[in-house]
Amino acid sequence: APVSLGACLNIADIEAAAEALLKPKAFAYYASAADDERTKNWNHDSFAAVRFRPRVLRDVTQADLSTTMLGQPTSMPIFVAPAAMGRLAHPEGEKCLARIAGEAGIPYIVSANSSVSFNDIAALNDPKNPQTLFYQLYVNKDRSKTEAQLRRVVAAGYKAICVTVDAPVAGKRERDERSKMDAESAADDSMRDAVKSTAGPDKPQAPPQGIAQNLGSSPSAPAAAASLASAMFSYVDPQLNWDDIAWIRKVTDDKLPIIVKGIQCAEDAALCVKYGVKGIYLSNHGGRQLEGAPSSIEALLEIRRYEPQVFDHCEVYLDGGIKRGTDVLKALALGATAVGVGRPFMYSLTFGDDGVRKVATILRDELAQNMRLLGATKIKELVPEMVNARVLEEN
Ligand code: FNR
Repeated sequence: APVSLGACLNIADIEAAAEALLKPKAFAYYASAADDERTKNWNHDSFAAVRFRPRVLRDVTQADLSTTMLGQPTSMPIFVAPAAMGRLAHPEGEKCLARIAGEAGIPYIVSANSSVSFNDIAALNDPKNPQTLFYQLYVNKDRSKTEAQLRRVVAAGYKAICVTVDAPVAGKRERDERSKMDAESAADDSMRDAVKSTAGPDKPQAPPQGIAQNLGSSPSAPAAAASLASAMFSYVDPQLNWDDIAWIRKVTDDKLPIIVKGIQCAEDAALCVKYGVKGIYLSNHGGRQLEGAPSSIEALLEIRRYEPQVFDHCEVYLDGGIKRGTDVLKALALGATAVGVGRPFMYSLTFGDDGVRKVATILRDELAQNMRLLGATKIKELVPEMVNARVLEEN
């Protein structure tokens, strides 16, 4: 496996390097997925079931990758998906993601369970070259905490609220459970330390502030928690329902667009329209929640077939298994506005800023090269006629 960044040619190389170099507990947390990890694997494999229908003899001298997300410019149709615990991989954690997303001109959705506080991330913003930050919300069982949190997020300059709805409880993530058991049997570090301190190698660190803010002043990461994930979900309200979308809009004075993350079928996409959601984010949480969930590309095809009017009212995003520029092109041809990338950016934190920059560059280069081979020079030229997804549609 390549263990130097310079030797990494693609996203799979970055993943292999992370596996070789990260602490096993950190890699297990990032890599883990529910049950037998079939949905995680299917996320990527389902892209392979889609074929291109390339067009030729078009002038493809240059490709312009720029587009917008909810009115915010982005240099390419890719954003950093919300993911927790960046400091498991690097002492600066999410700060690296924010800095390089800003430099690359792509949006970053900051996780509710970020190990750097959303205020510290917003403070990195250069007013001369403002970057687009969205905030991912988990609604707290104590609604007054969420209200206060949302007001602070609006004040910090975040441009949209992304409510994650596929995780009312944590999925069964066995790699994560096993690494916790290994840590315990080695009397190494307890579950509680893992949640309180996402320290990189050796150096003691302050508690991950996003999580501390959400858990309240006395983080009750239960020592008996089965996994890091189940400890982090302990504050999330499983009673959340569609009326709460209206409540979130009210708390934010309807100032910010709402994205709902974790939509997995056409019926719920239609409900998003009904409840005034602006961004439908198709996701199965990287296969970390319900094993057997459809891949996002399947959910996208279902919406095209049964609720096509959704695309007139909302932008549609998706994530899960994106590892190649061609994966992005397939999603966009089928109607996605942009795609999220999760694990590749988390793995890239192994190399700090340079790693994150490398992932952004690999995806940008692959996207531009293959867009031209497909016969498109602008994002809006990516149309459904450019793919054949019949294999997935027959399911
Ligand atoms: C996640 N994801 C996630 N989602 C979310 O809404 N809030 C969160 O705090 C997290 N945390 C998180 C941590 C880690 C380590 C991973 C891998 C994922 C899910 C994430 O936003 C996204 O849906 C998936 O990561 C997309 O799949 P890929 O790109 O990892 O295959």
